[in-house]
Order: sequence, then structure tokens, then C-alpha cells
Amino acid sequence: MTEILPPDAAGIARAAALLRAGGLVAFATETVYGLGADATDPRAVAAIFAAKQRPRFNPLICHYPNADAALAHVQENATARRLSEAFWPGPLTLVLPRRAECPVALLVSAGLQTLAVRVPAQRDALSLLRAVGRPVAAPSANLSGQVSPTTAAHVLGGLSGRIDAVLDSGACPVGVESTVLDLTGLRPLLLRPGGITREAIVDVAGPIESGATPAVGGLRSPGLLASHYAPSLPVRLNARTVAADEALLAFGPALAGGGALFQLSDSADLVEAAANLFAGLRALDETGRQRGLRAIAVMAVPMEGLGLAINDRLRRAAAPRRPGALPLDPAKGREALGSRSV
Ligand code: TXA
Ligand code: MG
Repeated sequence: MTEILPPDAAGIARAAALLRAGGLVAFATETVYGLGADATDPRAVAAIFAAKQRPRFNPLICHYPNADAALAHVQENATARRLSEAFWPGPLTLVLPRRAECPVALLVSAGLQTLAVRVPAQRDALSLLRAVGRPVAAPSANLSGQVSPTTAAHVLGGLSGRIDAVLDSGACPVGVESTVLDLTGLRPLLLRPGGITREAIVDVAGPIESGATPAVGGLRSPGLLASHYAPSLPVRLNARTVAADEALLAFGPALAGGGALFQLSDSADLVEAAANLFAGLRALDETGRQRGLRAIAVMAVPMEGLGLAINDRLRRAAAPRRPGALPLDPAKGREALGSRSV
């Protein structure tokens, strides 16, 4: 059952308690309703993807009660600071490199080295974020493929019974999502137009690149952005055996053998596996290289529930790398470009 909470002190306290306990709570921002989870809890973040029935892991925006809290988890720069002073709280999302000590789950970044951060301009959302005391990851609170919700009734229309609660703050005044701006390159890059106009950003940040530019358009546009983490070791899918010079990414009872092991979920639980996926790929890539292993063998993950998104990501990790085809490959984002050019 999904609780409908009023935006008073008790309702906000209840919403915060649910989030701190790993639950899913939809809440209003000035743009649209977000489906929130404790961003530092990988299982709670995985549950967002399960509730939305998203067939792939898109990176999520992390919400904070103020700019200092938001910028503490990323490597800020002068442009980020200026934009945050001009537009936060407000409908602007900044993509910046994660700090090494950033406590946000890797699943929030969907394997990227970057994190999208924002401070929403909605009184109840800010009260909630302060009460939670942790960053809150929140995509729009709709089922995958449906339009973003701007009322609690819209949220319940798609997600009733699938989430713990909705904090009903009435209608969202802006109604379109936040502008997403990538600040990891030489110039800011507009990834998604939204509540803050391009002109307003240029006034503060100077010239910006746009996702509409041919050749980079599809490449970096967030809807297509799937670059994410690809291990440097080759990945072999649906392994039924594992060689001594391979690392094993296990799901359920692990195959015998292998030169390194990471267990996604002993009990073959898909939410647990999703929560562990990016950490597992990274760990095996690192250990595998240290131990001179030649590949990562991955046990089969069923194509149901979160298994769709897990398999989508595993297939990308296993796909042949074709540097020559990079500009046409929407599966590579900005960081991949950067790393390829060196
Ligand atoms: O207004 C909004 O932004 C709403 C409210 C709830 O804050 N949220 C929202 O989230 O629209 P979502 O998940 O529906 O869209 C997030 C967008 C996606 O296009 C995603 O690809 C992009 O932000 N994004 C998130 N993290 C990113 C990252 N590290 N790098 C590039 N793009 C990122
Ligand atoms: Mg959305």
C-alpha cells in the first residue's frame, strides 16, 4: 500500500523516516514529482529502477538541501559555483566528476565517473531533504515510458502499490524537468533543455555547447547516454564454466574455479544484484588486472524484472570496442570521449 502523506511536519517526518529506512517516497519538486530513495543505499536505488520498470540503468539526479551539500560530493569548478549561486535552489542540474570519497551509490551514476546534482526550489522538498540528512536520488516518478507526473494523483496513477509513499504537495509549478548541464568538459554542454533557459545560463556561464550540435547531438544527449562503465577486461556472458585465468561475476550459487570472484547475489535476488552490479564490475576489473586474468565471465541473469536492465548493461560491457565507430555510437558519453583521445 502506498501512503499518501500531507506536507506538514508529521508527513515530512514520516517521509524522511521511510527514506532513511531504504524506502521509496515520491515528492514534489518545482519541476515534476521525483521518486526518491536514499542515494547512499544501493539497494534502495535499485528499487527505484524496479518500481519504474526501467529496462536500463540511466543515471539519476541527486537532490540536496543546499549548494554546499551538493558540491561537497563532486569536484566543483568556478562555473559550477557561479551557476549554483545564480540558479539554486531551482530547476538546474549540474553534472560534475564524482569525488573519490563521494558516498553516493555507483548505481546512481549508472557506472559513470560523474554525478548529476541539484537543489530543488520547493519548500516541502527542501524540508524533506534536510530531514533525511542524506542525498536523495530521484528520477521523475512515473513508470518508464510514461510522461513525468506533476501531481500526486499522476504519481499514484502509475506507481500506486509499487512505492511506499507520496508526499502530496499539490501541483508542480514549473511542470517541465530541470535543465541538465554537463560541466566536465572545457565548455558547459547542454544535455537536456528544461526549466532554466539556455540564455539565462549563457548570461552566467558564457558560451555553452548544445546537444543539438550535429555529431555530438545523439552522442551526449542524456536519453541515449548509456556510456557508463565498461571494464577494460573483456566480458564473457552466460558463463556456465569459469577458467582459472578468468574472474567470475556470480549470480546465485557460484561456479567453481576462476581467479577472482564477486557475488552479485547469493540468493539470486535481482534487486540485490542490481545494487551490486557496478561495484562488482569495477572490483573484478581491478582485481583481474592485478592478477593478470584475461576476462570477466558472467553467469546468466534471468530476463525478468530488473534482469532486463542488468542484462542491458552487461551486454554493453561485453560488446566489442570499436574506437573508429565512436562518433556514431550513442553508447559512449563524454568521459569515454575524453579517455579515448588520450
Ligand atoms: O526536474 C528534474 O530534473 C526531475 C526532478 C525529480 O528533479 N528529475 C528528472 O529525473 O527528470 P530523470 O531521471 O527523469 O532525468 C534525469 C536526466 C536524464 O536525462 C539523465 O540521463 C540525466 O539527467 N543524468 C543524470 N545523471 C547524469 C550524469 N551523471 N551524466 C549525464 N546525464 C545525467
Ligand atoms: Mg524522466
